[in-house]
Amino acid sequence: MDKKITIAIDGFSSTGKSTVAKKLAKELGYVYVDTGAMYRAVTLFMMRKVFVSEGNFDEEAIIRHLPFISLSFEFNEKLGFGEMYLNDENVEKEIRYMEVSQQVSKVSAIPQVRKKLVEQQQEMGKEKGIVMDGRDIGTVVFPDAELKLFMTASTQTRAQRRYDELKERGDEVDFDEVLQNVKDRDYMDSTREDSPLIMADDAVEFDNSNMGLDEQFEKILKIAKDKIAEV
Ligand code: DC
Repeated sequence: MDKKITIAIDGFSSTGKSTVAKKLAKELGYVYVDTGAMYRAVTLFMMRKVFVSEGNFDEEAIIRHLPFISLSFEFNEKLGFGEMYLNDENVEKEIRYMEVSQQVSKVSAIPQVRKKLVEQQQEMGKEKGIVMDGRDIGTVVFPDAELKLFMTASTQTRAQRRYDELKERGDEVDFDEVLQNVKDRDYMDSTREDSPLIMADDAVEFDNSNMGLDEQFEKILKIAKDKIAEV
């Protein structure tokens, strides 16, 4: 039997990381973990407590309440991936709301938040056979991952994809607002002090601005299979 490897997929927001990662995990029979969902769930919890809102950001209260958060993924057969649960409540839909997207970069810049989530991510991946996507998977969570992909696409392309996704779900959104959010998160995620979004030296860069999903998937699947055969 093939040896199981760790596949780390990093990149800016809305580069299509999760779509590819989910498909890849399914094809290889691996576990898929969306680490962005975990940062979003922590943000949602803090927003409900009103430690985070448009005009308020109480870092000290956020850190103090971290022990009251328990995160888990529960596999949904119909959807074909694990949905995000926050203290046993399914929050998969709510964590994608624009309000959460607007606050998540600030919450995920707090080192204590990162420490808690990184530890859980490392635990989830310790048996290998995992595809994990995020911002710091190849650099911090699994620096020894056998395969690291770094996904990029133009800002405009990414904003359009995100806009289409939100519209399809029935959300009332404005394109300029989505574009601004993509830009703001790019800036915050790549300039924060703790684990900024950077490409690992040994990552394969993948620009999918002008590539359809199928073509992209076929290429990535080949890279993954070659790597698995090699280890
Ligand atoms: O992948 P996403 O857009 O759902 O991620 C939401 C936010 O979470 C993103 O703007 C930055 C943060 N994040 C992070 O800091 N580290 C990760 N490994 C994943 C996400």
